[in-house]
Order: sequence, then structure tokens, then C-alpha cells
Amino acid sequence: MSAADAAGSQTFDVGSVTEFPEDSITERTVGGIEIVVINQGGAFYALPDRCTHQHYPLHDGELLEGKVKCIHHGATFDLSTGRATLPAVKKIQLFQATREGDRVMVTLQEV
Ligand code: FES
Repeated sequence: MSAADAAGSQTFDVGSVTEFPEDSITERTVGGIEIVVINQGGAFYALPDRCTHQHYPLHDGELLEGKVKCIHHGATFDLSTGRATLPAVKKIQLFQATREGDRVMVTLQEV
């Protein structure tokens, strides 16, 4: 299910809250884009399922406090800002992820 808005972004219902247990990383494909949905401490985050270093998937990564770590070469990405640590230098895109009732919604912005 999706809804387009005037700004060119699209919001998708990515599943029930129960599908995203606390402190988990879950892969999803929405709007043809592979993303990960993260629940950390009850807060939801969504980002591309590709490390900005060498594009390995982040769904097999590790959750740290406020960050997701790519297990391939150890880069981390801040869940609030997208800021990367070496060996990645490029910030990761963050999508808006919100809880609406018992559903999790992700908004993909056109870039
Ligand atoms: S591919 Fe993620 S740190 Fe290298």
C-alpha cells in the first residue's frame, strides 16, 4: 500500500509493528528499493540496504547504540544523521519511518 504526496515522496505500509521486534534489522523491498527497517528501543529507522562503502547489504549488520554497523569492513552509520565512519565516507540516506497504530510506515523521498 502506498500513498503519493505532492512533494514527490511515497509512503508505504511496510508491515505490522510485531514484524519488527525491538533491536532488530529487517529487510524489505518497497517501491522497488531494498531497504532495512530498524527498531531500536521502540524507535523506527529506515535506510537503504546497501553500505555506502562497497555496497554490501546492511541487513546482516550489527546494531550499536544509535548506529548500524556494516559487518563487512566495519563502517558505521548514525541512525539519526546518516553520518558514516571509515572506511565508508559517504553519508547514508535516511528515510522517514513512523509508527501509525500497529503499522510501520516508511516514506521514500525522491532524490
Ligand atoms: S561494504 Fe560496508 S564497510 Fe565495506
